[in-house]
Amino acid sequence: MNQPWSPDSWRALPIQQQPTYPDAAHLLKVEQTLASYPPLVFAGEARELRRQFAEVTEGRAFLLQGGDCAESFAEFSAAKIRDTFKVLLQMAIVMTFAAGCPVVKVGRMAGQFAKPRSSGDETIGDVTLPAYRGDIVNGIGFDAKSRIPDPERLLQAYHQATASLNLLRAFAQGGFADLHQVHKWNLDFIANSALADKYHQLANRIDETLAFMRACGLDSAPQLRETSFFTAHEALLLNYEEAFVRQDSLTGDYYDCSAHMLWIGDRTRQLDGAHVEFLRGVHNPIGVKVGPSMNPEELIRLIDTLNPANDPGRLNLIVRMGAGKVGDHLPGLIRTVEREGRKVLWSSDPMHGNTIKASSGYKTRDFAQILDEVKQFFQVHQAEGSHAGGIHIEMTGQNVTECIGGARPITEDALSDRYHTHCDPRMNADQSLELAFLIAETLKQVRR
Ligand code: PEP
Ligand code: CO
Repeated sequence: MNQPWSPDSWRALPIQQQPTYPDAAHLLKVEQTLASYPPLVFAGEARELRRQFAEVTEGRAFLLQGGDCAESFAEFSAAKIRDTFKVLLQMAIVMTFAAGCPVVKVGRMAGQFAKPRSSGDETIGDVTLPAYRGDIVNGIGFDAKSRIPDPERLLQAYHQATASLNLLRAFAQGGFADLHQVHKWNLDFIANSALADKYHQLANRIDETLAFMRACGLDSAPQLRETSFFTAHEALLLNYEEAFVRQDSLTGDYYDCSAHMLWIGDRTRQLDGAHVEFLRGVHNPIGVKVGPSMNPEELIRLIDTLNPANDPGRLNLIVRMGAGKVGDHLPGLIRTVEREGRKVLWSSDPMHGNTIKASSGYKTRDFAQILDEVKQFFQVHQAEGSHAGGIHIEMTGQNVTECIGGARPITEDALSDRYHTHCDPRMNADQSLELAFLIAETLKQVRR
């Protein structure tokens, strides 16, 4: 891969998981329109996230990345964005305050529309149709018309991402994320649980600390009134991503300005494939999903292709093994990376290796398995002397019933009550907060 890179050099290489558009001219026109529009983020922000990633890699901060598996056009509202943002703020404050560790917040939001699929088509009864690939590609309805890839959807995704990011920026900087509001981030539907009590106790301690700081004249720092929040999505649909490549006027480097961070999925991380080619040339912080089929030599080659300068803020390895497989696969990968001196940010995605099918047919995840994978992730890093840098989760602030288990347990029978995801099952606010408390405890021990 020492060939020259250009924003479209991926087009000459084998590519997985792409739709076949019936009208190539229409697609080209949309790509040109997108490329003429303002980008969503600015290169300087992506560089700031790289700086923060480097802090995580060096063990001085923790990365919290979360949001929907797939954003959808139908479930697009201020309330939905606000509630997911609230839960992420709560999780972050639990970890920051209980563990004394700065938390870098990244939403799987404002662009997480395209989905890789394990099969290119879907069969119900005796009807087989092309698979749903996310709202940016085609419709979820099980009829032939919905499943035809439509380029206009790229434009709708752009507009939705723009509006979402606009609101997220307002929340992060306009007073909503002010630490003095910490009690108000709690969502009504978790108000009467043991978890809510635990959260309010923590919030009370924050209030006391803030009152003390005010009394000492120390409460003028802008960090108390606003926060930084970044966006990320899987760079899967490269026609969309290429349209957002911009050359930074300050450095001359290329950035993919559709989000601050982009990642490569477990199904599209082929070394000689289009996705690795595309992302190696943009200077954003990037991620790669690392599933159980990854071997150490392959991992080193991938790291060297994506991060030849061995920059500690560039590359996030998002480990998604499944609770039963962490112990078999992760130690060998960590040892090789450490031995070779490669600097990477290790994070745990405890969702994608733990997807099961309930007897009712719903795709679900058992919260106990999710916790188990996170615990093992920390244990393995502790044993290897490396840094467990973060988590990457699928969650929502909506009161959904998609993952079973948790402190207010969701049973298999209850899955159908509020199962709204367009793709994989997400943790609800209760489950997310419970996970945050567990991580805070673990971080506290590790940091001691
Ligand atoms: C995802 O993050 O939604 C996803 C499809 O993950 P993976 O590439 O790890 O399967
Ligand atoms: Co998913």
